[in-house]
Amino acid sequence: MTTAPMPDFPSGFRWGVSTSAYQIEGAAGADGRGPSIWDTFAHSPGRIVDGSTGDEACDHYHRYAEDVALLAGLGVSAYRFSIAWPRVQPTGTGAANPAGLGFYERLVDGLLDRGVDPVATLFHWDLPQALEDAGGWLNRGTADRFAEYADLVAARLGDRVKLWITLNEPFIHMSLGHGMGVHAPGRMLLFDAFPVAHHQLLGHGLAVAALRARSTSPVAIANNYSPVRLAGDTDADRAAGVAYDALHNRLFTDPLLGQGYPEVPGLDSALIRAGDLDVIAAPVDVLGVNYYNPTSIRAAEEGSPLPFEIVPLTGYPRTAFDWPVAPDGLRDLLLQLRDRYGDRLPPIQVTESGCAYDDGPDADGRVHDPERIAYLAGHVRAVREAIDAGVEVTGYFVWSLLDNWEWAEGFTKRFGLVHVDYATQRRTPKSSYAWFRDQVVRP
Ligand code: FCB
Repeated sequence: MTTAPMPDFPSGFRWGVSTSAYQIEGAAGADGRGPSIWDTFAHSPGRIVDGSTGDEACDHYHRYAEDVALLAGLGVSAYRFSIAWPRVQPTGTGAANPAGLGFYERLVDGLLDRGVDPVATLFHWDLPQALEDAGGWLNRGTADRFAEYADLVAARLGDRVKLWITLNEPFIHMSLGHGMGVHAPGRMLLFDAFPVAHHQLLGHGLAVAALRARSTSPVAIANNYSPVRLAGDTDADRAAGVAYDALHNRLFTDPLLGQGYPEVPGLDSALIRAGDLDVIAAPVDVLGVNYYNPTSIRAAEEGSPLPFEIVPLTGYPRTAFDWPVAPDGLRDLLLQLRDRYGDRLPPIQVTESGCAYDDGPDADGRVHDPERIAYLAGHVRAVREAIDAGVEVTGYFVWSLLDNWEWAEGFTKRFGLVHVDYATQRRTPKSSYAWFRDQVVRP
């Protein structure tokens, strides 16, 4: 597929791809790794649509050298991966498991040898099960455990990781994992999940301090954002939009950028101890933005437990996940962040952007994914428009390098630039891989 020429980006702009540990590594029991909440959840009947688990996933743990070669072939300057906490600390506390850290050291050194910057996320949802048994993120102590884990990782890799990301999408971990029970650990607390927000943010702030003590590399957090589109124009619709925006877009960013918590249902101020907001507001060097789609909101029916109702966003093409393809939402979001936070906003890197389609090999074994090319072309252009409008955006990472295990959707959603045949673990670069290299990265 050909697209109109892609725009130029400032020199030094970071092009990358993202993955996460439980979604690709497999090797669930290897080298002393302990169980995480996702092992427990995936092995519970009925939780994952195709009944699969991440036990093997893409077997990246054993095939990482092949995957690093794919990254090098793509020409990207950065690779965002996550470190599995239960590989480093099998029960979430105590001394590091040297074999677990050894894997990430081999990966990081392999990336550096190929000229690819390692960008490490410390928590992409795979909490050690032993910590969950002690209350998980509902327990304030988990924030301290997280900082101890950050210290162990930084002690070993602090001289080589080029950008640290503390948490991935704490909003999704709170809402899907603890509010609605569709992700691990499967709790259904609705608005009583607020402690999970506060303790993740506290863990983030404590981890920032731990990382700074060991490493001079920049530190970030990767938040999920979804700009609100109103599906009605009454005052009640507008109030519903404000409520949803506070929950999804501001709960984890206002306090990080020193503005304290917005008004959200369930916020229990008794949890917030003196000094917590200062810890949380420790300056970060980069704001990671994960964007997939806007959310369409209208006023809730009377008697609803929620102060808003989410309705399908119409007027856009849709991915195989049934998510609307709305690159204008990414541009709007980047401008909104700049307008909302002004000078408090650090430079942004788009740490996830991508789409699922039902890609498979044709008779010649080639995988053509023109929809993904169109999707990425639109979103890359949206970033360029935001830069032209004065927003400082310094990087863009595609989700994902490989087709992988998509949480509650199991193996049914393919997000990769590279197709994976899960029966053989054969990797086949899709047409979007060559397009991204030749038209966007232009190494
Ligand atoms: C994000 C997650 C990532 C992946 C994509 C599709 O919310 O951070 O792991 O599942 O969605």
